Amino acid sequence: MIDQILEAGVWAPTAMANEPWRFIIIENKDLIKYVSDETKKFIANMNYPAAQRIATAKEDTICYNAPVLILICTEKDDQHPRNEQISLLDCVLATENMFLKAHELGLGTCYMGFVSALADNRTVMRKLGAPDNCRMMVPFVLGYPTEIPPTKTRQKPNILKWIK
Ligand SMILES: Cc1cc2nc3c(=O)[nH]c(=O)nc-3n(C[C@H](O)[C@H](O)[C@H](O)COP(=O)(O)O)c2cc1C
Repeated sequence: MIDQILEAGVWAPTAMANEPWRFIIIENKDLIKYVSDETKKFIANMNYPAAQRIATAKEDTICYNAPVLILICTEKDDQHPRNEQISLLDCVLATENMFLKAHELGLGTCYMGFVSALADNRTVMRKLGAPDNCRMMVPFVLGYPTEIPPTKTRQKPNILKWIK
């Protein structure tokens, strides 16, 4: 299933045919818990209403005990930060493809925005297998959903202008 999800990811649109995504797949429970614990340490210092509750919780309030954590990374380009921005867009497009494929396979996904805070933490990133020349762009978890949340409503498309 993970192979199928990765394959869906690499069919995302990519600027200049760059295919900048590099994947790290973590199925090791201890390592996923380590990511959650390191993220909690970061959140503890954030000025955000739920920060203390999330950071001090005994349970895994970050990765939710998910069995798989995927990090989409890209090679750094310190000389040309704009290139990294474009790579980020490609990686996010790959993410959505992967989310849709996971859903098709009966799996659930969740974008791990908080985990992104670890992207510049070399010690953690090395432990996760990311080479120093790579930057984590999108972390997300994957697993069998324990519940299917009720469908939410969304606002109607906020159209600024429709010019004919
Ligand atoms: C950029 C981004 C960052 C997110 N970060 C987190 C996160 O750190 N933790 C979390 O539980 N959910 C995170 N989410 C998931 C959202 O909170 C939400 O659950 C998800 O987008 C599904 O929304 P829906 O229920 O409206 O479909 C993130 C989503 C996005 C797009």
